[in-house]
Formats: sequence, structure tokens, C-alpha cells
Amino acid sequence: MCGIIAYTGKRQAAGILYEGLTRLEYRGYDSAGIALSGGQRICCVKRAGRVSAIADALTMPGNCGIGHTRWATHGGAEDKNAHPHVCGKFAVVHNGIIENYMRLKAELADMGHVFSSDTDSETAAHLLEAYYRGDLLEAVQKTVRELEGSFALCLLCADYPDRVVCVRQKSPLIVGAGADGMLAASDIPALGACKKIRVLSDGEIALLSPEGAEFFDFSLSSLPAAFTDNAVRSVAVEKGRYAHFMRKEIGEEGRAVRDTARAFDGREGARLAADAGLFSRIYIAACGTAYHSALTGASLLEEALRVPVTAETAGEFCCRRPLLGRDTLVLAVSQSGETADTLAAGRLAKKRGARLAVLTNAGYSTLARLADYRFLTYAGVEVGVAATKTYAAQLAFFYALAAFLRGGRAAFLEKFPAVHKKLLREEGRIRRLAADVASARGVYFIGRGADYPSALEGSLKLREVSYLPGAGYAAGELKHGSIALLDETAVVVAVVTQKRLKEKSKNAVCEVRSRGAKVIAVTPFSDVPADAVLPLPPCPQRYYPLASEVPLQLLAYHTALARGLDPDRPRNLAKSVTVE
Ligand code: M6R
Repeated sequence: MCGIIAYTGKRQAAGILYEGLTRLEYRGYDSAGIALSGGQRICCVKRAGRVSAIADALTMPGNCGIGHTRWATHGGAEDKNAHPHVCGKFAVVHNGIIENYMRLKAELADMGHVFSSDTDSETAAHLLEAYYRGDLLEAVQKTVRELEGSFALCLLCADYPDRVVCVRQKSPLIVGAGADGMLAASDIPALGACKKIRVLSDGEIALLSPEGAEFFDFSLSSLPAAFTDNAVRSVAVEKGRYAHFMRKEIGEEGRAVRDTARAFDGREGARLAADAGLFSRIYIAACGTAYHSALTGASLLEEALRVPVTAETAGEFCCRRPLLGRDTLVLAVSQSGETADTLAAGRLAKKRGARLAVLTNAGYSTLARLADYRFLTYAGVEVGVAATKTYAAQLAFFYALAAFLRGGRAAFLEKFPAVHKKLLREEGRIRRLAADVASARGVYFIGRGADYPSALEGSLKLREVSYLPGAGYAAGELKHGSIALLDETAVVVAVVTQKRLKEKSKNAVCEVRSRGAKVIAVTPFSDVPADAVLPLPPCPQRYYPLASEVPLQLLAYHTALARGLDPDRPRNLAKSVTVE
């Protein structure tokens, strides 16, 4: 949700910032911009559109600058709302929401400040200019004291041509030390070759110079530098032979599942198992795809621990005042570890005395650092906005944890890469079916029991990359109202993998077909009366959610392509939703 980056050092800044922005583009692609300081003035290029829209910024000379890629919150995706925002001697990029911006804007306007955008972010640039009396850090301190809400800021001041100030409050920001200069960015993949990093905490300021960084709290007391090794440094985030990250990442699921199972942290698992008797209830809080993995996880953990386990969307969890106390475990699941709603759920749990377990793909994330019990998925960096391999890895974790809590191992996870290969061989059939799905007026997904989360996730994936209207339903629920949506223009994808529920699921398929809708069954069975079948290879029953997701993701991918859309950059979305 907006990506910000800064560089100061020996090299030309524009190229470094531009390259970093392409790696942050998954956080929003409504507009992009770069500002450079030097020679007592600030030069800025910014425009609505993707990072490639500001390729002319690459010709700007200078060794110190900031950059931004935007997911619009306040103000449309227009040139005037693109960052950096420049006011007098200052240029600012911002990730987050400044909640009191209306009042600040009115006060600044009374003082004669003229605003050129509709954003909340521009107020930060005007406050800096208003407070500046020649001392940069003093102006920063006075400014951040005025701001309410969430903000990661990188800012330039024309009087300090080789300095960048970085500020973090509830939005992520990481400082990296490179061989020839200092960087800061919203996420590690943009920190390129930096060998050392320091993740800023809330309430911290970093002053970057070509030689290094100094750190302060909001009272301007010095803090230790405390850099650590950058473990993510060598990760490749290239598409390779694939046209899209989404397809590449679906192809990596076999490995992601196996690696997550192999790296399951038995020590952390044992700590959790030892404390399990303290918990009379467990909530799993997550958003979007992570919530769907949590639904499967809740069934597996409830069966393993014999205590009630409920999966909840993190946003609602915070709204509905859940029962939380010392006898409660909250497990927050988030691939990024920066999702604002999931962080809020984690913080609420801790505030109310519950224990917090975290499952994330980003060990350095804010959520990971809140955890009492920290678990990781090993999916590798996921660039596609649509979560694919991280979903598979989250499921793998839940299988591994549930087996561990029962005193065993989820041995099938080792075999999953071979199953995954077989599933990918069906891609030709899926591509052909996608051509029909692409012209449907609505696409609905149904499933029962273990297949219900798969139906929800299959539907989310299709909606987000193809923009086709639809929903996922518990197969038995459809007839209680939503069946009214069905006619010959609808496609229904039925996930049918559970032997004990097969006959009921077949009934649902018949009900749907008798309303004229075309049914595609995702199933290992040969007797589901569908119009088309996406066959699943044999798997142990409980593991079918891992297998069935592969054809569903491929169906979403190929439907997006059939509709001429870019599945890696769905409209209106950002990968990391860092605002509530
Ligand atoms: O980083 P998180 O796992 O917390 O993200 C949660 C959701 O925003 C995310 O899963 C979203 O639903 C996916 N992009 C959907 O593919």
C-alpha cells in the first residue's frame, strides 16, 4: 500500500530509485514519482500510471533522492496526487494515512499555504516547510508530533543536499547499508544488494548520509544503529521464462510446500504444545487469502487440540469485541506481516492479555516482531498481487503444525511436489476452459466441509484477476437464496474432494445444472455429473485443499489472460494492505 524508497551515496540516485520502485510496484501502481536534491534545489518527476511512466526521471542527475509508487487512498489516481509532494525546500514521500490531515490542512491554509493535491500526505511537506528554521531534525520532530495516524516518510531538504530523513510510525520502513551508499525502503526486495539492514520501529527517525545513518526517537535522543545481516538479499525477483509472476509463483508451490514443511520450527512448536493446555479457545485472525488458509487451519487445529478454534477476518475480529484473556491464543496469519487489520488484531490480543502466535512469510515484519510464538512459511518472495504460493505454504504449515501437535509428521507434504507436477500437466485443459469462463456473466464456486475454504479462495482469485462478478458459497447454502443468481449465463465451479460428502455435493451440482448454469467440477472422482472436469490426482483426503487450489489458481490466471488483463497488476489492488 504505497511503496517508498530513498538513496544517498556515491552513485547516480535516479537509476537506483527507479529500479527499487519497480520492486515495490506490487504495493500500488496508481502513480509514481522521484525527487532528487542537489545544488540547493529539488527536481521532481511524477505522474499517474506505473513506474514506467516516469522513465524520463532516469536522466535527472544527483546522488540523493526519494521515490514513491502509490495506491490511492485520499485523492484519485491523477498526476497532481502523485508523490513526492514538494513544498518550498522540502520533498516528501509517504506511506500510510495521516488521519488528522483535514484539520492540519485548514490550519496551514489559514497561514497562507496553497495545496496542489487532494492527498493527506501533502500536509507533511507543508508542515516541514512551516516549522523549518534552518535545523532539519527540529523541523522533522515538530512535524511528526503533529501527525496522527500511520506514516512512513522519506524526505529531502534542499539545504541538506546529501541527507535523507526517514520516519516510521505504524507503516513499515527499513534502512539498508550498501557498499556505496545508504538506502531506505518499505520492503526488503527494494534494498537490492544491501548486506546490512535495520528495521525501523514505530517512533524512530533515521538520518541517512552517504557515509552511514544515525537513529533517533521522536524526542531526538540517539538510538543504537544495530544493523543486522540482510537474509533476503540474494533472492531473485525475476519472472524468468514466465510471462507473469502469478504463473511463475503457481509453479513454485511444490517447493514452497516442501520447504515450509521441512523448516517447520519444532522448538517453537514444542513451546506452543507445552502451553496448549492453558488455552480454552483459539482464534485465527487473517485477511483475504490468508483468512481462507486460516479456515482450513482452524479445522486442523481444532481436531488436533480438541479446543474450539475459530477463523475470523482480522478487520471484523477487532470490530466485534471477541472474548480475549489469558486463556486465549490468537494466531495471526499474514504473508507480508504488515497488513494493518491483522496487525490490529495482534495488538488487540496482546493488549487484552492473550498470547499471540504469528505465521508470516516475512520474518522481519512488524507482525513477526509482536509474536510470542513465531512461525514462518518458506514460500520465498511473492511478487504477484494474487497470493498463490504463500497460500500453499500457509496450508502446509497448518498441516505440519497439526501433525506435530498430534505427535506425528505430515509426511504427505514431502510428496506434494510430485502431485503438484501432475496438476500442472492439466494446464492445457484449464486454458481451454478459461476461454468459456471468460465470457460468463457470473462465476460461482461451491464446496462442502474441507472444500468450502477452497471454493472461497478459488472465487477470490478469479474475481481479483479477471474482474468477473461471483462469489464462493458453502454448497449447502446456495439453495437458501443465492441460487437465484443462476441461469445459462453463469458458470459454477464445484470443488468435490471429500468422499464422505460426495453424494451431497453431487446433489448440489445437479441443482445448479437444472437452473441452466454450466458446472466445472474440480474433483478426483469420476462420477460427478458436471459439464467439464478438472481432475485431481489421488491424495490423502485431508490434503485435497492443497491439491484443488492449483487448478483453481490456473483457472483464474488463464481467465484473466483470456480477458486481456494483466494478472500481476489487478486494478485497484495492492499486495500489502497497510491501512485499516
Ligand atoms: O499479507 P497478507 O497475507 O496479510 O495479505 C492479506 C490479503 O490482503 C491478501 O491475502 C489478499 O487477499 C491477496 N492478495 C489475494 O490474492
